[in-house]
Amino acid sequence: MKSSRVAAVGTALVGLGAVEAATPAGAYVGPGVTAGTPIAANYTGPLRPQVHYSPPKDFMNDPNGCFVDANGTWHLYYQYNPTDVVAGNQHWGHATSKDLYHWDNQPIALFPPDADTNVFSGSAVTDPENTSGFFPDQDNGVVAIYTLNTDTKQTQNIAYSYDGGYSFIPYENNPVIDSETNQFRDPKVIKYEDTWVMVAAFSQDFVIAFYTSKDLKTWEHASNFSHHGLLGTQYECPNLQKMPIKDSDETKYVLTISINPGAPLGGSIMEYFPGDFNGTHFTPVDNAARIADFAKDNYAGQFFYGVPENEPAVSIAWASNWQYTQFVPTADEGWRSVMSLPRVNYLTNITRLGWDMVSLPYDVSPILGDELTASSADASSLVNKSLALDFSTVESNALYFNASVRGLPPVKNISSTAWFNFTLLSPVSGESLSGGYQFGADNPFFLDRGRTRGFDNNPFFTDKASISQLLDPSGTWSIAGLVDRSIFEVFLDGGIFSGTATFFPTAPLTIFSAATGGLPEGAEVELRVWGVKSAWASKEDENGTVKGNVTADAAAGSKMHRRAVYDAGLAM
Ligand SMILES: *[C@@H]1O[C@H](CO)[C@@H](O)[C@H](O)[C@H]1NC(C)=O
Ligand SMILES: *[C@@H]1O[C@H](CO)[C@@H](O)[C@H](O)[C@H]1NC(C)=O
Ligand SMILES: *[C@@H]1O[C@H](CO)[C@@H](O)[C@H](O)[C@H]1NC(C)=O
Ligand SMILES: *[C@@H]1O[C@H](CO)[C@@H](O)[C@H](O)[C@H]1NC(C)=O
Ligand SMILES: *[C@@H]1O[C@H](CO)[C@@H](O)[C@H](O)[C@H]1NC(C)=O
Ligand SMILES: *[C@@H]1O[C@H](CO)[C@@H](O)[C@H](O)[C@H]1NC(C)=O
Ligand SMILES: *[C@@H]1O[C@H](CO)[C@@H](O)[C@H](O)[C@H]1NC(C)=O
Ligand SMILES: *[C@@H]1O[C@H](CO)[C@@H](O)[C@H](O)[C@H]1NC(C)=O
Ligand SMILES: *[C@@H]1O[C@H](CO)[C@@H](O)[C@H](O)[C@H]1NC(C)=O
Ligand SMILES: *[C@@H]1O[C@H](CO)[C@@H](O)[C@H](O)[C@H]1NC(C)=O
Ligand SMILES: *[C@@H]1O[C@H](CO)[C@@H](O)[C@H](O)[C@H]1NC(C)=O
Ligand SMILES: *[C@@H]1O[C@H](CO)[C@@H](O)[C@H](O)[C@H]1NC(C)=O
Repeated sequence: MKSSRVAAVGTALVGLGAVEAATPAGAYVGPGVTAGTPIAANYTGPLRPQVHYSPPKDFMNDPNGCFVDANGTWHLYYQYNPTDVVAGNQHWGHATSKDLYHWDNQPIALFPPDADTNVFSGSAVTDPENTSGFFPDQDNGVVAIYTLNTDTKQTQNIAYSYDGGYSFIPYENNPVIDSETNQFRDPKVIKYEDTWVMVAAFSQDFVIAFYTSKDLKTWEHASNFSHHGLLGTQYECPNLQKMPIKDSDETKYVLTISINPGAPLGGSIMEYFPGDFNGTHFTPVDNAARIADFAKDNYAGQFFYGVPENEPAVSIAWASNWQYTQFVPTADEGWRSVMSLPRVNYLTNITRLGWDMVSLPYDVSPILGDELTASSADASSLVNKSLALDFSTVESNALYFNASVRGLPPVKNISSTAWFNFTLLSPVSGESLSGGYQFGADNPFFLDRGRTRGFDNNPFFTDKASISQLLDPSGTWSIAGLVDRSIFEVFLDGGIFSGTATFFPTAPLTIFSAATGGLPEGAEVELRVWGVKSAWASKEDENGTVKGNVTADAAAGSKMHRRAVYDAGLAM
């Protein structure tokens, strides 16, 4: 034990002198990897989303380490390859936000210990009560829990942060859970009463393992949840999250499992199980497999740690699909992959289907611009009519809309010609993205990204997705949508179903149109459309560069480093 500590300190000291002052403790900073300072970014490309998080450059996948601190700063870490536009060389990138839309890029937070190891997915918790013993004199301690991957095995490890989550020091006695397999990953930790609970995937055994700990260092196996729902060919990125129930003081748990490949539409998707958790065992409410999103780009969703349990949960997902993520054309702009919109989540019990996890955009007010329908007489009643809006003057090229259709009779009284449709169109190239809901028949909703041509030649980039969405007995149907250059997200009936789809036009889509037809007597339609304000433009300097948190300079890294060496010395 003692000699391994000495070795760790020795290695770190070499790092301090030989690499650069900012080399964080215990970190291997490979060729071309930036430590101690954020990576400058160009968010102006025509495919770059303006209110979604995407990395400063190169390749991103799963959200990691999501937490909100006691001062209301949201921390998002993510699987990051800082040296290429495809996966590999995995680190934890990092960004922070006060509202989940305006992000500040921070320096890379977690580095591998050596050139042959990758830092894979995981989670983070705050430890104001010092349960870990890492934090003798502060209440803003953060512990990250993550997988280290080598060719031969995957193990669970922890690292602690003295500066609120900006830089981390690996625990000297890592791993905290060893293994003999290279298919054991993605630890997500929450607190249950005064015990830490981890879920992690034995991916190819289709097992979600539950562990408990008092100090985040010593973990005890508590139970296995195995072979539930859709298997795909692997389980990944599990989450266990307590969630409120709509119109009730009660809560339930949700266990999410991401499967890849093998989603019903191909590739990757997340499924979830509402249920109960007693501290060691999870019991689902029924035997159903529920899919979190009906389109193709929603994977590895993670809930933010630190949101009060009586409030809706907050989550974010990777908005891509392993079938094509490493081929999409955004590499021409130097980056690949975007996160979903931040979502609020709670449970509700819906007609026929039972328990459903609602997923809605987190408060959009910080990004809403001018309401484009404010003075439009046509929008006030769209019954059996259509409306087109040119939004080419909206600089972000991003748009938010919502609509409700009220006063509908029972489905059997509605004609199969009754529809609500919308289209986003480029008058320049003729490309479009469209969707629609049929009020009669079997109540299908479709989304079609097949009329965009920037990514036509990939056989897995499926054109259309759909869901059958039973008309609510209240006779009301609603939709909300946000389009952001190369990503569209849609929320049906107050988020009972959601769909996330990337799309790659060769020219910006700048005309929004909506239409209804065949609606029964008594139906009313309300449609509202807003321009969206770019979150990134507000961070650009005169050259269009987003520099990120440049105050997080080399000094912080080397200070952390010395502290680690000092602590290691004390421990000897
Ligand atoms: C930013 O990226 C866009 C799209 O790739 C490119 O056209 C533009 O020249 C870049 N800006 C700078 C300053 O490099
Ligand atoms: C935090 O834990 C460490 C190690 O157990 C202990 O030495 C220290 O007193 C604790 N500090 C507080 C404030 O609880
Ligand atoms: C909140 O902000 C105060 C003042 O800047 C700081 O002292 C404290 O450490 C912060 N707390 C957390 C949890 O980051
Ligand atoms: C839990 O699952 C793992 C992975 O398949 C397996 O190695 C372990 O034996 C299981 N534990 C129990 C108690 O079933
Ligand atoms: C939790 O549930 C398991 C399985 O039903 C049971 O064996 C265990 O005793 C329960 N624990 C508590 C604290 O109720
Ligand atoms: C929720 O829905 C399911 C399925 O319809 C039903 O079995 C269950 O009793 C409902 N629960 C509540 C609290 O309404
Ligand atoms: C549409 O969004 C606005 C702004 O968030 C909100 O006030 C309104 O209730 C929403 N309407 C529908 C039908 O969802
Ligand atoms: C539905 O249609 C039936 C038969 O045509 C009619 O008797 C009934 O009043 C209608 N219900 C509503 C709510 O329109
Ligand atoms: C809506 O779209 C569907 C499918 O393309 C089409 O059959 C229907 O006629 C459209 N209805 C309206 C009112 O635009
Ligand atoms: C809408 O058009 C249909 C025919 O397509 C007609 O039967 C219906 O009465 C119209 N609805 C309203 C509210 O005018
Ligand atoms: C913008 O670019 C010019 C020319 O390269 C450079 O002189 C200037 O310092 C840059 N501005 C900023 C804020 O970096
Ligand atoms: C910049 O990073 C430092 C830590 O190095 C942190 O204390 C500070 O809050 C960060 N500022 C912003 C605006 O993110």
